[in-house]
Amino acid sequence: MSITLRCVRCGADYDGMTIRYRCACGGTLDAIFHAAKVTAADLDARLASKHPHDRSGVWRYRELILPIDPAHIVTCQEGNTGLYDSDRVAEYVGCRIALKHEGQNPSGSFKDRGMTAGVSMARALGVTRVACASTGNTSASMAAYAAAAGMDAFVFIPDGKIAYGKLSQAMAYGARTIQIDGDFDDAMGLVQQVCEHDSGGMYLLNSVNPFRIEGQKAIGIELLHDRDWRVPDWIVLPGGNLGNSSALAKGLSELKAAGLIDKLPRIAIVQAAGANPLYTSWRDKAPIQRVKAQTRATAIQIGDPVSGDKAWRGLTDTNGVVVEVTDQEILDAKAVVDRAGIGAEPASCATVAGARQLVAAGIIAPDADVCGILTGNLLKDPDVTVGYHTDALDDIRPAFANPPMRVDATLDAVLRVLDA
Ligand code: F0G
Repeated sequence: MSITLRCVRCGADYDGMTIRYRCACGGTLDAIFHAAKVTAADLDARLASKHPHDRSGVWRYRELILPIDPAHIVTCQEGNTGLYDSDRVAEYVGCRIALKHEGQNPSGSFKDRGMTAGVSMARALGVTRVACASTGNTSASMAAYAAAAGMDAFVFIPDGKIAYGKLSQAMAYGARTIQIDGDFDDAMGLVQQVCEHDSGGMYLLNSVNPFRIEGQKAIGIELLHDRDWRVPDWIVLPGGNLGNSSALAKGLSELKAAGLIDKLPRIAIVQAAGANPLYTSWRDKAPIQRVKAQTRATAIQIGDPVSGDKAWRGLTDTNGVVVEVTDQEILDAKAVVDRAGIGAEPASCATVAGARQLVAAGIIAPDADVCGILTGNLLKDPDVTVGYHTDALDDIRPAFANPPMRVDATLDAVLRVLDA
């Protein structure tokens, strides 16, 4: 297997089997390799296979993901997520939108697709200690895959700023959890230094790790496979650290190069208005400036994204757009997604809020063929859900509150409530 790491900024090349996350110039790196030929018929045949690598919604597409010795693959049967087209959501958005629910991954978020690739590569490199900074989902995912691989995991999280579901996962899967007095961007800076200085060879598994991105390409690949390679007009997804949108664009471009699709969809990246460095950069056609991030969608509370260059490349390649949505829009959209029986965490629902805004602005046509990515599971952040439905969030006026009712424990009292 031969993998090269190529700088996104200056084009310098490095050997892919050495541990490196950035170019000497500071740019992020792409994993470059020769993709073996694979056909739509080969991929369909794998859907009927019981081999764990064929059953993984990442390794089924191995020719397009990463050339790695199968013996190194660490899989938790990620992927194979549902695609939902709901009348209720369509009515809210103003056009039909098929939602790929990445919250159905083993640890409850899309991160598992990147993590199976990152941890498999860690094993190929002979690494035994892995680390990440996280707003919660990366840490939950890394903790799970490190546990499966028998590696020691260290997660750096901003104290008090991650949802409890995610924190509980990291602890339960056995990661050492290091809470720092700072935000995600501080944690991200710190963990990069730790990985540079740790004498035990700590391996960084944030999306600055190029192999994480290779795994996450599988979201778009599986989505297109679900649709028999029919390319939608748009794919809408949330953006935080910007690894996922970068991966989506890279994967789609490679699918086109492989001849599995004949054109690219447009990508719409949705940011929370309180954590919008890509949005302002895109709007002003200016370099990304760090912001102090603040949003109730804590998963995307990120002010200094590591994959800005790659995200910009993806926008250029796909004629993409960026929008920002308020927490109010995110949480009302979430109530609609939840009520449709689909259910997702707040950051995921930025997708639906953003699509709605783009339809209202006439950028997405009402008859367009639109797909959206829901990135995380409803159960990740029960506090925000309960806070919304009980009208306990001071900055939010819930349009779709569904509070529980307090009723005396008598049949009469219950029947009176049911009749009302
Ligand atoms: N949605 C969810 C649920 C996330 O957890 C994240 C990122 C994103 C969207 C944004 O994806 O960073 O690739 O642009 N979560 C991170 C974490 C950063 O630490 O779990 P991105």
